[in-house]
Formats: sequence, structure tokens, C-alpha cells
Amino acid sequence: MTIIDIIKHKRDGGELSPEEIEFVCAGAADGSIADFQLSAWCMAVFMAGMTDRETADLASAMARSGDSVDLSRFGELSVDKHSTGGVGDKTTLIVAPVMASLGCKFAKMSGRGLGHTGGTVDKLESIEGYRTVLTPEEFIATTEKTGVCVIGQTGSLAPADKKLYAIRDLSGSIESIPLIASSIMSKKLAAGAHSIVLDVKVGSGAFMKDLKEARKLARAMNAIGAASGRKVMCLLTEMDQPLGRAVGNSLEVIEAVDILKGRTEGVEDVYEVCVEICSRLYMLSRGATYEDSREKVVGVLRDGTAYEKMKEWVAAQGGNTGMLDDTSLFAPAGFRFDVPAPQSGFVSRTDTEKIGLAALELGAGRKELGEKIDSSAGIILHKKPGEKVKKGEIVATLCSSSRSKLDAAVGVFNEAVKYSRLFVPSRGASVMDVIE
Ligand code: URA
Repeated sequence: MTIIDIIKHKRDGGELSPEEIEFVCAGAADGSIADFQLSAWCMAVFMAGMTDRETADLASAMARSGDSVDLSRFGELSVDKHSTGGVGDKTTLIVAPVMASLGCKFAKMSGRGLGHTGGTVDKLESIEGYRTVLTPEEFIATTEKTGVCVIGQTGSLAPADKKLYAIRDLSGSIESIPLIASSIMSKKLAAGAHSIVLDVKVGSGAFMKDLKEARKLARAMNAIGAASGRKVMCLLTEMDQPLGRAVGNSLEVIEAVDILKGRTEGVEDVYEVCVEICSRLYMLSRGATYEDSREKVVGVLRDGTAYEKMKEWVAAQGGNTGMLDDTSLFAPAGFRFDVPAPQSGFVSRTDTEKIGLAALELGAGRKELGEKIDSSAGIILHKKPGEKVKKGEIVATLCSSSRSKLDAAVGVFNEAVKYSRLFVPSRGASVMDVIE
């Protein structure tokens, strides 16, 4: 078997055998296949597509190309979630303690932010002392004891995916359903959870710009889950505006903590997406009905159990829980700017990607891998689409530790927000569909 034969086989529309797929993944992981050949192979898949069987084999081979986490001791109770990139998406911070409060085991490896989207690990690191690097033994022991543990992704999880993703990014073959589905699922398979809910974002700031393509992606990921003996469900949620009102690391932790303390006014979109993710995870892991699951989830949010669980979790990973009880202890940004509305009327649009780029400019994200981020930087949206404004009223507060970054971000932010004289209805970041 040679890589040239495999490229030609796919180029000519053939169905690759499990052995051919394994060959490509092993060669991507150990560097024995040249980048230009991997690039040609990705493009052949992009053009010719893959069957469900090939896609599942690709996900499984990429998952097996590196380390994997064994969560089998927790059986069906081990749960995980993944969101396909978003702005203001702090759902993991809420879903994790809710699921642990309900007796599930939420052992998650999360990523760091890159570009305009944020990463959970960066958010958690804004809590003083929180350790995102644990040994495998500590990871399992913390999960066993508190029901939840969230750490940074190790470099050796699905290395074939890491290589192929970088190649796709540089060679124009990112937007392929089998390649995206297998890439996302390879990391979920390696991370070990049995019941998985995938939150596929749809809209201007998302990977999937339209609902039809998002449904196809969801079906492909569900099929991989079924072929691998995992329970998978996908939610399609709107990402035509940031989720909630806070964008930026410590600002998002504060918003999540407030929701866990029962303060949901103005951030009903975040609350609802979290309740949906948790309800579906509970259904999958406990075999309960949707109605029973939702009642349980809402119950632990309402009676403060989930907030107490968050404190237990943060303490178990070395974090200062005093900052959760009193969120004014999060170091505020040195420079703040209140953005005034240029006209009276309504906010008609907040372009998600541009808001993410403004947060990036403020220092909340990284333009390059490994760059240091500013935990206190970000944006608080006082007005969101559909809300009334008067000329001069504050639409948002921009925060940064750097005066020059603040100045640079104002222009980017102003480009992101559109106004109208007439009311334009907005649905917020609602759940658009559920693919089981
Ligand atoms: N996220 C991934 O992990 N992989 C893709 O291919 C696209 C989004």
C-alpha cells in the first residue's frame, strides 16, 4: 500500500478501506507521509466525500493515533460536551457543575482560545490558583471525588487530527463535512466519555453558516458516535450574536457564576442553552425522559446545588473560591471605555465574529498559538439586538490592561454593531434544532 495509490483511489471516487485510512492517519501522526501528499489526500476527500463507514473509521483511526483517556470505570455516567466555537460561550462553566450535581462524571479536557473564539481553559485560569495541568491520576481521582474535573488538552490527544487539521487549514479543505465531523469526534472519542452532547453553532460567528449544512454535520457526528458505541446528540444553536453579555475570560467566569447563583435576567440565552445541553446529557446518561431531565437540571440550578458544586470543583483544582463568592475580587482591567450609541432607536445587529475580533484586539484572545492573554480584557454588552437605545446611552463597556489596545478595539467594536430606527426582533442564541 502506498499513499499515492490511496490518494488516487479517493480522487477517483473510491471507498477507502479501514486499512487505507489507518495508513494515512499513522503516516500523519509519525511524519512518514509528506505534507504535500497529506494535502492532496485531504483535497481528494474534500472533493469526493466519504461514506458514513469511512468517516467513522477516520475518526477512530485519528483517536487511536495518540493517547486516550480511560473513563470506562464511570460507565454511562461519564458525560462530555463540545461546542463548535463561539463568542461568549461559557456553557462548560455551568454545564460541568450541573452534571456533577446530578451524579454524572464530567471529566473534560478543554482547549485554549485562538483567534476570535475563546477557550474554557483560559477562562478557568482567570481564577487565582486554578490548576489546568494535572497528572492523569489526579484527573481521575478529582472526577471520582467531586464528579467534575476540567483540565487543558494534552498535546498527544489525536495527533493525526492535529496534523491533518493544520494541513487542511493551509490548503483550503477545512469546509468538508466528513473531515470536520471526524476531526471533532476523534478528540471526543479519545477523551473517553460515553455520553456526549455536541453544540453545533450556526450563524455569522460560527463555523457552520447555514442550518442545512449544520444538520448534515450533526448527522455525520451522530453516525460516528453510533459506530463507536458512544451516545451522541447534537443541538444546533444560533450564533448570530454573542452568547450572553460578557465576552472575555474573567468577565465570562463572572457571568457564569452569576447564573449559577440564580441571576439570569438579561442572560436568558446562556441559561437556556445550558439547560438544554444538561437535559440532553442527563437523558443520554440516565435514560430519562426530556421532561424529567429538564426538571432535575432546573432544580439543581434553582436551589443552589450547582453553585456549591462549582465551588467544590474549583477548590479541588486549587482555585480561590473566595473569588466566586465575591466576584469583585477578579482583578478589574486598568482601562475601560463606555461606548455611546450614535443614534436613538434599536440595536439591530451585533456581528459575532467582529465582536470576537474586538475582544481579541483588547487582549482577551491570542492572534498566535502560545501568546499570553489578558484575563481582565473583554466586552460587556449592555445592549443586545432587539433592545432599545437612546443616543449617547452606553451600548457596551470595553476593558483592557492596555490603553493602546483599548483605542484600537473601539473602531472594530463600532463596526460590529448596527442600529435601526424601527424594532428588529431577535431570537437570541436559541436552540434551533436537536438531532438525535
Ligand atoms: N473543529 C475541529 O476540531 N475540527 C474541524 O475540522 C473543525 C472544527
